[in-house]
Amino acid sequence: MIAITGANGRLGHALALALHSRGLAEGIRLTTRDPAQAQDLTALGFQVVAADFSSPASLDAAFSGVDKLFLISATGATPVRIPLHRNAIDAAVRAGVRRIVYTSRVNPSSSSPYSFAAIHEDSEARIRASGLVWTFLRNNEFSENLDPWLEEARRTGVLEYGAKGRIAFVCRQDVIDASIAALTGNGHEGKIYELSGPEALDRDQIAAVLSQACGRSIRSSGGSAEDFSAVMAAQGRPDFIVALAAGIYRASEAGEWARPSGDPERLTGRAPLGLSAYIRSKFAGLE
Ligand SMILES: NC(=O)c1ccc[n+]([C@@H]2O[C@H](COP(=O)([O-])OP(=O)(O)OC[C@H]3O[C@@H](n4cnc5c(N)ncnc54)[C@H](OP(=O)(O)O)[C@@H]3O)[C@@H](O)[C@H]2O)c1
Repeated sequence: MIAITGANGRLGHALALALHSRGLAEGIRLTTRDPAQAQDLTALGFQVVAADFSSPASLDAAFSGVDKLFLISATGATPVRIPLHRNAIDAAVRAGVRRIVYTSRVNPSSSSPYSFAAIHEDSEARIRASGLVWTFLRNNEFSENLDPWLEEARRTGVLEYGAKGRIAFVCRQDVIDASIAALTGNGHEGKIYELSGPEALDRDQIAAVLSQACGRSIRSSGGSAEDFSAVMAAQGRPDFIVALAAGIYRASEAGEWARPSGDPERLTGRAPLGLSAYIRSKFAGLE
């Protein structure tokens, strides 16, 4: 039995749909805090059960009889999320899970200015010490996170997305395909894969690609780390996300997420979609 956590998240839900479309729904248990929200997945033949990383008892029930676990990292501030992940890893050990695939992050180091990196450093260390057979999928920033920023820039002519340095953005579909390969294939034990896109762009380059795709002048706002935090705050984002903005600015400035790894194509056998192509696919011809 394979279990996948986070069925109602963007990644978890899309991963489940992709598994179903490949005829792989049978024998997969999906866990979520709210099974009622996942009735579409139940209807497709998945077992959907309740589990919350804050409730060890719910995890014990959800992981019972599971051989392989795809653990999708949760959301929330760093001090909240570290114990949540520890709960999930410890429950996997108690349940006798043999193998775990964990969605980590590129450069999971607590010395990163990106404070969420410390979560992944802790979770990876917990998993390494657990005795579970592991695979780490270190995801880069998803291209889809840019969508609202790109939409706004198309309207206003100014890209407010504040990360200063180059980032090898990766598309969610490429993460999903690589995740399925790592979860269902052989030979991935003890391996770390960086799921990055093939092209690293900074905000000026992103604005230039968007400008060309839309056929109108769009520039980056070019703001500071503090400006990026202020933009996030004005959007009404939660405090822990506003606090993260400066870390995104500085980690990208330091080049922490700038390396195209080649790992998505090594896992899937096909080239992932680069950020320029992603932007053009969404915006070309839209003036
Ligand atoms: N977006 C990115 O650029 C990016 C990059 C690198 C890594 N990641 C990681 O990938 C994860 C998934 O991304 P996403 O776009 O799918 O995020 P999302 O749509 O915000 O989903 C958040 C996920 O966290 C789960 N979750 C939250 N609190 C939980 C709890 N207490 N117990 C169990 N599960 C909990 C949710 O599961 P249910 O709602 O089903 O319970 C859901 O699957 C993120 O949380 C992040 O750690 C994201």
